Amino acid sequence: MDRSARSGKPNEESVLSGLDSAATTGSYWYLALLACVGGFLFGYDTAVIGSVLVFIPYHLGSFATGYLVAGASLGAAVGALAAGPLTDRYGRKSLLMADAAVFALGAILSAVTINAGMLLSARTLIGVAVGADSAIATAYIAEFAPAGRRGQLSIIQQWMITVGILVSYLLALLVFKVAPSAAYGADWRIILGLGAVPAVLALVLRARMPESPRWLMLQGRFADTRKALGQLGIEVSEEQVRQSAEQMAAAETKERKQHKSQWTPGVKRALMVVCVFFIFQQITGINIPFYYGPQLLTDLFKGSTPGALAAAIAGLQAAVILGAVNVVATYFGFRWIDKFGRRPLALWGYAGMAVFMVVAALGVATLTGTPKIAVVMVGFSFFITSFAIGVGGTGWLIQGEVFPTNVRGRAAAIAASVNWFANFVIIEAFPALEKAIGLAWVMVLFAGLAVMAIVFVARFLPETKGLSVEEVVTVFEGQAAGDKAS
Ligand code: BGC
Repeated sequence: MDRSARSGKPNEESVLSGLDSAATTGSYWYLALLACVGGFLFGYDTAVIGSVLVFIPYHLGSFATGYLVAGASLGAAVGALAAGPLTDRYGRKSLLMADAAVFALGAILSAVTINAGMLLSARTLIGVAVGADSAIATAYIAEFAPAGRRGQLSIIQQWMITVGILVSYLLALLVFKVAPSAAYGADWRIILGLGAVPAVLALVLRARMPESPRWLMLQGRFADTRKALGQLGIEVSEEQVRQSAEQMAAAETKERKQHKSQWTPGVKRALMVVCVFFIFQQITGINIPFYYGPQLLTDLFKGSTPGALAAAIAGLQAAVILGAVNVVATYFGFRWIDKFGRRPLALWGYAGMAVFMVVAALGVATLTGTPKIAVVMVGFSFFITSFAIGVGGTGWLIQGEVFPTNVRGRAAAIAASVNWFANFVIIEAFPALEKAIGLAWVMVLFAGLAVMAIVFVARFLPETKGLSVEEVVTVFEGQAAGDKAS
């Protein structure tokens, strides 16, 4: 780690303002990337199941099949909840390491599975790791990131999710093309098992990452804080750490004392905002093109792709296009989040989602043949683009940045759990909804929900660009107090 590259001016300013204004050196990008390997696995492991499902040779009933697809989301909801108290107690780094180990174990068990029960258990285990990791990754980043780059550093999480989704499609495509005769044999095991590679790498590399300096300060571990800051290129004395820790604790204790709980009105308000944002992130339909898109599009190609393997390959090719659009568009979210801010990106993101979902719905309802496929693909692509720029990363970013350090782990975990639960519900409900009112109307429903999301963001999401995480908390306390007063 580059210890000479640094810009904190600890003699004149507190350790926290040193952290907030530090230059974003290579070490910061590296650490954010390491924190977000779980994001890659989140994307990989949730998307990969769709590619291999039809080749798994066990006799699964419809419940077990449904569980194989959606079980990871349910496991993630539980994993996220469990991670909260654990990370506030044992730290961010310890949990991130434990997650990497569970990810690796889950992937290996899925590859060597001997029966359906073992596979379902392995998938649940992976889900738990996905949830736990998604609960902590951006919270860890928010606790060391310089204020002006926190958005970008946190959006790496979203970027890694999108890369994980795309890589899962590409790898499945590659494996099926190279060894088509083993589709029902070794192929699906290899595809599921490959998730262990980044997990083991993350386990090894995460062992050397610093623990979150803000969390260490709150624990009174000043010598360790000094070391962690040193790894970020910020040299301070233990005494300076102690003084800053007192300042930080005093600010948090003041609110806590006044309200007799760590869960102050501002924290509750922030929690409500992130949870509702996350519910909208999911119920506006983003995972429909990802989970069901290949199948929906393959249906449109019907007749031209006989056989399970050919159909799977055709579906995967369409999925690769959508996955690539997602990765590229997330770059713009990354570029713009700290420039324009969270609010404008979210507002325009949901607006784009509403418009392009209607375009895709019109394609479904009024066209046939190639024009239909073209319009649906274009609609879905711009829908995903809008999500990727304004909604996906923004959700995971605010989840990490809006809570005070003493409850950040637990609050961020509750929010992540809500995200996963909403994800589960929409994935489960979609087939029934489609049957009841038809695909086009379900899409119109998603567009309507995106419009409601715009109203919600406009009314409740404050701008947090450029503020320190301590200032962000104050903004929510102010809003909560304002609401009470009015
Ligand atoms: C969402 C996932 C989604 C992904 C797509 C994430 O922000 O939480 O549910 O699959 O974005 O890029």
